[in-house]
Amino acid sequence: MVLDLEKISVLDRQNFLQHAIGPRPICFASTIDKEGNINLSPFSFFNLFSITPPIVIFSPSRRVRDNTTKHTLQNVLQVPEVVINIVDFELIQQTSLSSCEYPRWINEFIKTGLTPEPAKLMRPPLVKESKINLECRVIEVKPLGEKGGAGNLVICEVLLMHIKEDILDGEKSIDQRKLHHVARLGGNWYCKVDETNLFLVEKPNTLLGIGVDALPGPIRNSKILSGNNLGQLANCGEIPAIDPAFQDERLKHIFQYYSVNPEEMENELHVYAKELLNAGRVQEAWQVLLTL
Ligand SMILES: Cc1cc2nc3c(=O)[nH]c(=O)nc-3n(C[C@H](O)[C@H](O)[C@H](O)COP(=O)(O)O)c2cc1C
Repeated sequence: MVLDLEKISVLDRQNFLQHAIGPRPICFASTIDKEGNINLSPFSFFNLFSITPPIVIFSPSRRVRDNTTKHTLQNVLQVPEVVINIVDFELIQQTSLSSCEYPRWINEFIKTGLTPEPAKLMRPPLVKESKINLECRVIEVKPLGEKGGAGNLVICEVLLMHIKEDILDGEKSIDQRKLHHVARLGGNWYCKVDETNLFLVEKPNTLLGIGVDALPGPIRNSKILSGNNLGQLANCGEIPAIDPAFQDERLKHIFQYYSVNPEEMENELHVYAKELLNAGRVQEAWQVLLTL
């Protein structure tokens, strides 16, 4: 299916794009108007865009229903300050509740039962229950259009970061396993980050990966190795040398039973290499493949 985004309805456009672009982190934004009314609302059109200066952007859209603007946008135009609270699994239901369209004078801290805590530099309060709070100055608000569904980029410079001690490791870094981020997908779908679904991808910073194009033909064209497997193998600085000491029972078995049929032997070796790659044992996989 190919979609021309100009020819579909706004609701379809929103639906397809929000299912496709995900998971999106959630900015739980605390803002204040010039009379001192506090607002707390979630925005998943949100991300980090610069480290120096530290810039995050979120986007309160014009409502599709009636093209009105959100209180958060009105507030940052009056008082260019925001506290962005990071949403984890423990906060997700109260976060969702805060997205109800309460009247302007309603403070969502009270509706959600979350605790406001004074910020150090900014007027809007922190969400005490959040594991991380970012005190930000709004440096620019950039409207992206005038029709319903148009985003408004709220460009924020992060001045101060508050981090709960219990998500830190021994070196005072954030332990990714302890921060159970929740992110938004399409429709009512969300996902949660925890130890069961986190994984590491090794990225060599000093060596250039040789690339899939430089893998030997039988490996590159394997019917057994997947694209992920080829990516793992091609992420080395050079094709490793054969290690004459590399031997194991499985390899001996493959040679013993399949050497009469080279095609079957290649298949068996690729199956074995795939298992090793899926277990993250790239060097051993290379040795298995190099025995051909
Ligand atoms: C998890 C979540 C993410 C949301 N992300 C956005 C978003 O990125 N942009 C937007 O305009 N509305 C988004 N919404 C809807 C707003 O939160 C909702 O319109 C909110 O009530 C606006 O409040 P306000 O008018 O008090 O600023 C989201 C809602 C939820 C629950």
